[in-house]
Order: sequence, then structure tokens, then C-alpha cells
Amino acid sequence: MARPIKTAILISGRGSNMAALAKAAKADDFPAEIALVISNRPHAEGLKRAETLGIQAMAIDHKHFKTRVAFDAALTAVLQEARIELICCAGFMRVLTSEFTAQWAGRIINIHPSLLPKYKGLNTHARALKAGDEHHGASVHWVSEDLDSGEVIKQSALSIAAKDTPDSLASRVLALELRLYPCALKQVATHWKQPRI
Ligand code: GRF
Repeated sequence: MARPIKTAILISGRGSNMAALAKAAKADDFPAEIALVISNRPHAEGLKRAETLGIQAMAIDHKHFKTRVAFDAALTAVLQEARIELICCAGFMRVLTSEFTAQWAGRIINIHPSLLPKYKGLNTHARALKAGDEHHGASVHWVSEDLDSGEVIKQSALSIAAKDTPDSLASRVLALELRLYPCALKQVATHWKQPRI
């Protein structure tokens, strides 16, 4: 088997998707290894979870940078130093600059809690309920310059129930996400198209 794709996960909070990816990647035949977790928030719960899972974890606090471009450049420097090949955004609550998305094009993916192209951005569960949708779900997609607009890699859907609230939908969609993201990462790493680093 080819050497696993060296992967970093970007987080901002709880880190449950990060943990699901890290646990899946521990399997001997998984085509990606999680080498690094980075949070833009120093107190993110996910940083402790990553350390518990034995993964190198660090914070790069966006508040220490004057501009988004400077923060993203610092992120790229750390990722390059660690020879990262693929980035998984998992609850990473920063809008990335076009410089960053161009630099990592074809090597950065994200999970979003809606059936894209529906409901890009925030408050996806409330918006799906308000629209009276029958179905809702999660998408893993390539990251491009425009927010939540890159090509979809894999989706998972559920039926909205009459009793659903934004909170109940969020937890039901999260359960889908935790299965979906490892499958999508496996697919991307198995069919890796970029030059190896
Ligand atoms: C997930 O629902 C993800 O889709 C969204 O933010 C949430 C992050 O949860 N972008 P976690 O940090 O992975 O627990």
C-alpha cells in the first residue's frame, strides 16, 4: 500500500468530527494519517481531545494577527513545515482567504451541515426547518475560494420530522457527519491526484 496521505485537521471548537477522522485513520489500511490538529482558538475542547488521541495539536490564535492574510500565511507555514499534503476543515470557523484556498487547491476539504448547494454559511438547521424542507443532511466538499461552494465529494441525508427543532436536527445531522467524514476522507485519499510531498 502507498504511504498514507499526511493530513492535518483544522478546528475551532468541540472537535467531534476531528475525533471521528482520527479514530478511523488509526486502522492499518486507512489511506490517510492524521499528523496534526490546529485550532484558531487556544481553548478549543478539540485540542485536548486530539492530545488524548495521541495526535500533535497546537493553537494558532487568529487574534494575534492583524489581517486574515497574515493569519492564513502563518497557517500555511506551519502546514508546510509539517509536510502536510491534505487539510480537513472540521468545524473550523474562519473564512479562508483566496490566497490560502489557491495555495491548497485540490488539497483541502470541509464538512458542512447541509445538503449543499442548499444553506451555505451559518444556521443551516433553522433555515432548513423554516423552509419546510423534507430532507436535510451534511456534505463533504472541496474547499474553493467561495464559501461552501466547492464541488461536493459525498453527502448524507435524513428526513426532517414534524417534532424536529434546530437543536434536535443539529444532533441528528452530527451523527451523520461522524460517519460521512471518515468515508469521504478515505475516498479522497484513495483516489489522491496531487503530487506527493
Ligand atoms: C459540525 O456540525 C460541522 O459540520 C460544522 O460545525 C460543527 C463542528 O462540530 N461546520 P465538531 O467541532 O466537529 O464537534
